[in-house]
Amino acid sequence: MRRIDPQRVIDIIHEQAGRTRTDRYCPGRPPSVFRCMDTDFGQEMAGDVLSGMTGSVKSIPCKYLYDAYGSRLFDRICTLPEYYPTRTELSILERNAHRIMDFFSEREGSLVEIGSGSDLKVRSLLRNLNGPSARQVRYVPVDISETSLLRSAHRLLDDFSWLSIHALVADFTRHLDCLPEGRKLIAFFGGTFGNFTHEQGVALLQSFVRVMGRRDRLLLGIDMLKPAGIIESAYNDRSGVTAEFNRNILQHVNHRLGADFRPGDFEHMAFFNPDKEQVEMHLKARSHVMAHIAEVGLSVSLRPGETILTEISRKFSRTRAMACFDEAGLVPVNWFTDPDAWFSLVELAALKG
Ligand SMILES: C[S@@+](CC[C@H](N)C(=O)[O-])C[C@H]1O[C@@H](n2cnc3c(N)ncnc32)[C@H](O)[C@@H]1O
Repeated sequence: MRRIDPQRVIDIIHEQAGRTRTDRYCPGRPPSVFRCMDTDFGQEMAGDVLSGMTGSVKSIPCKYLYDAYGSRLFDRICTLPEYYPTRTELSILERNAHRIMDFFSEREGSLVEIGSGSDLKVRSLLRNLNGPSARQVRYVPVDISETSLLRSAHRLLDDFSWLSIHALVADFTRHLDCLPEGRKLIAFFGGTFGNFTHEQGVALLQSFVRVMGRRDRLLLGIDMLKPAGIIESAYNDRSGVTAEFNRNILQHVNHRLGADFRPGDFEHMAFFNPDKEQVEMHLKARSHVMAHIAEVGLSVSLRPGETILTEISRKFSRTRAMACFDEAGLVPVNWFTDPDAWFSLVELAALKG
């Protein structure tokens, strides 16, 4: 595993919140923030947008939905009546957190949260930290959105002042080698795993397996198949927050890459594709659209009705989920779900040769 040079610790909390500056990692307050990005974020985005916008189906990777405003919009989506995944997953967590957190009852370790976003879900786990080693547990949130990481870290410290937070600004598809060594419970909530195709998802799970020891666990949230109408209304809320979230990806591209997209030229479109068992979220050109992406030197033209794919969200049967786990070398040790089986939280162990 890559060891983090203590000199790379960037305590940026003080800039954002006026707190004490520290220049090396120390457990406890304030949270330490490590940037794991090894290339310039803008450069990487330029490469991704260039390949996405010149492909046979135009697309922008969904991780670019999460700039500061996008992260706030996603937090609002989680509170919408149509958006069942958050409240369903939370209810599963509330019922089972004590069992899950038994992981730390005898021995300390790290509670890693991948794509952590808001602090909503991890609170259920932290409230159930009991036993002699509880206060030795380190919380390691990992997210591409630095603002979201900082906001959540501060909110958590307001309520769990004893907590040691070691936040990683990282792309979880590339930087898992930044995770701390030692025993870990890795939580990956919110159905984010569904944003990857089968092949990408298996590769991602394999990268978790590589950093897991025999006794480590991966707690994976997966959104299950259910009637299409319920799924589709979750991505087409009446208040239009998801539409705003979707269009904001163009503002992010404009801001970072000097593009001149006009989000109002696009209609939000999200539907369930039964053949692929996934929701597809697109931006559909209302008329002929021309845009220029300065940093990439690319002019883009869209016909009326042509779309840009911004996200897929796969919905799983147990069989499909098991196929991913098998291929990745993971085995379920606990399968938690809700009474309607709309969502699952699967506790997985790595099969190590
Ligand atoms: C669907 S939201 C889920 C947020 C939260 N875990 C939840 O369950 O509500 C996805 C989160 O993952 C982060 N994210 C998306 N792609 C990422 C990537 N490649 N690397 C790191 N974080 C990523 C986003 O910033 C966002 O906070």
